[in-house]
Amino acid sequence: MAERLRHLVGIRDLEAEAIQHLYALADQFYEVLQQPTRKVAALVGRTIGLLFFESSSRTRISFELAAKRLGADVVSFSAAGSSLEKGESLLDTAKNLLAMGLDACVVRHSVVGTAHFLAHHLPIPVINAGDGTHEHPTQALLDTYTLRRHFGGLAGLTLTIVGDILHSRVALSHLLLAPKVGLRIRLCAPPSLIPPLWYGLGYPIYHRLAPALRGAEAVLVLRLQRERMKVAPIASWQEYSRFYQVRPEHLQPNQVLLHPGPINWGVELHPAVKDFSGVQILSQVTHGVAVRMAVLYALLGG
Ligand code: NCD
Repeated sequence: MAERLRHLVGIRDLEAEAIQHLYALADQFYEVLQQPTRKVAALVGRTIGLLFFESSSRTRISFELAAKRLGADVVSFSAAGSSLEKGESLLDTAKNLLAMGLDACVVRHSVVGTAHFLAHHLPIPVINAGDGTHEHPTQALLDTYTLRRHFGGLAGLTLTIVGDILHSRVALSHLLLAPKVGLRIRLCAPPSLIPPLWYGLGYPIYHRLAPALRGAEAVLVLRLQRERMKVAPIASWQEYSRFYQVRPEHLQPNQVLLHPGPINWGVELHPAVKDFSGVQILSQVTHGVAVRMAVLYALLGG
């Protein structure tokens, strides 16, 4: 086994071998979650802080459940109503939590690099639960874990990522993860929603949905992340849906459809795709708990 993982700030932290180890741990924890007790006493006595400075439903609850299923204690921190509003710095806040006995912290922040910053300054493992438009490593891990369970492996599969790639942290984590697991990535978006530098990376980029989806084993749809847009990158939201909304007629029978959530039905996904047999969106959520258990255990267990 490679050197022990110290933080999970980005997919760059993970070697191919460590990713396979996380998937294997997730398989074991997935089995635990199928038992009536759904718990294992792997992290009893450990305390995990959830520092969420940006809104979240799935990711926050998923980490909380993952920690609790491992027997750890969880403390949750919300920026609203905290001393940050009185001018306290992020690092001071984190150090105060540490002084109360945190063993690891999971952080989400709208500013790129926040998790790196904390990992650099805190003596405990830091997990990035999303930093601005940068990375969201556990989302890419749980998406690929879902595909791995479905297809029995990842090598040689093609995943098309469709939507607002420019403002997505999920997309970059996938771009970094794919070569480490043998997944092929295609990107599909209007030109203004692709980061310009990505044209030089060698990934196939499509501006039309049909050819981007044809022959791909899986499709990951991203919402328009309007909260991160300073100016609208497209002239008309209606036209976006007309040309980039994934509808049942775009999907092929054996394809898998993924979405990290939250979904804006009727914008990036047509409501009729709910009936498509390849929808694995709720499986992603289920697998997310097992994958986050694997990450917490890899960082704190043993
Ligand atoms: C994603 C995120 O926050 O980056 N969602 C998630 O974690 N489940 C994607 C999004 O917000 O669109």
